Amino acid sequence: MPSSSITELEDRLMANTYQKIPVTIVKGRGAKVWDIEGREYVDCMAGYGVALVGHCHPKVVEAIKRQAERLLSCHASLYNDVRAEFLEKLVKLTPKGLDKAFLSNSGAEAVECALKLARKFTGRKGIVAMVRSYHGKTMGALSATWESKYRAPFEPLVPGFKFVPFGRADRLREAVDEETAAVIVEPIQGESGVILPPEGYLKEVREICDEKGALLIFDEVQTGLGRTGKMWASEHWAVVPDIMCLAKAVAGGVPMGVTVARSDVMSSFKLGEHSSTFGGNPLACAAASAVLDVLVEEKLPERAVEVGGYFKQRLQELCGGLKLVREVRGLGLMLAVELRFNVIPRVIPNAASKGLLALYSGLNTVRLLPPLVIEREEVDRACEVISQVLAEEASRMRS
Ligand SMILES: Cc1ncc(COP(=O)(O)O)c(C=O)c1O
Repeated sequence: MPSSSITELEDRLMANTYQKIPVTIVKGRGAKVWDIEGREYVDCMAGYGVALVGHCHPKVVEAIKRQAERLLSCHASLYNDVRAEFLEKLVKLTPKGLDKAFLSNSGAEAVECALKLARKFTGRKGIVAMVRSYHGKTMGALSATWESKYRAPFEPLVPGFKFVPFGRADRLREAVDEETAAVIVEPIQGESGVILPPEGYLKEVREICDEKGALLIFDEVQTGLGRTGKMWASEHWAVVPDIMCLAKAVAGGVPMGVTVARSDVMSSFKLGEHSSTFGGNPLACAAASAVLDVLVEEKLPERAVEVGGYFKQRLQELCGGLKLVREVRGLGLMLAVELRFNVIPRVIPNAASKGLLALYSGLNTVRLLPPLVIEREEVDRACEVISQVLAEEASRMRS
């Protein structure tokens, strides 16, 4: 099918909710993808962080193929070998004490489960979330998401949610009370521009929750599984939550959400109080089991430190003298270039036309979430494109 027919069909038949880049991707390998005309791209979009172990990692592909020939579906009301194996591997890696999981199909679902669980365990209704947070777009997750453009058309949302500025422990202390079931935080805010917490902040968040008997939920949907250079971003600040949400990369591209919690917290769910038809299906579990193996065997969190450090340094060098750039920041391979002007709607498609896929973030930030297997030469190519695109913007602004 020619590219023009594909775009015509998707534009006509698919809900118009995505800001589309006019590129038709048909193949991926490692940190590269190819469009239907055979053009190659360095993929720093990686499906919004999904292709963490690289596109079509041979071990993940092999696990999916093997499982597809054996068993594709098995409801969680029956037992399954690959599901049990995945869970065992998962809880060996999760922060200490987080050893019981609910399996679902997306980040928003992982968050829904966390919110319900917090209410169930504490018997309280209140949830405190952060200004500029992003937790997904189902009703519960949306209620914890800050941006009014996402919320306003769908109000009334779930009651009981409050927002406080990310990084302000004093404001959190005022907001959390005896009615608060949980505080939900992304350890590094992703969608709003890769915003790192101030030093000591997450420890204080933990203390405030403990003082008030509220649970702490870390949404590691974007930051988890080595992206920031540690298996969990929360490890950078040595803080362990009561509940953690995962999705995106966990099954290497097969849909999966995971809510992992303290065993006593997860056990507050009684039979039938939460469920998912597809949750824990063997195909996703086989893929996820292979993803965890690859992360550990190939030491990908360590690679995120090494290659991420190189990428950030290159970006700092090339952006150093540019007035257009406000800041280069990030941790591991979760990087951002914040610009002084909102030219992102031009920058992202222009980068794509030059062979780099990157992400929007916040109002004026280019976000880079490449696979952790990205090679230095691919980083160099990405930097070249960013440099060209920013130079073009600078000359446009001068003229
Ligand atoms: C931190 C965070 N939480 C939750 C979500 C929602 O995940 P999904 O789109 O799979 O529902 C996202 C998606 O970008 C996210 O970044």
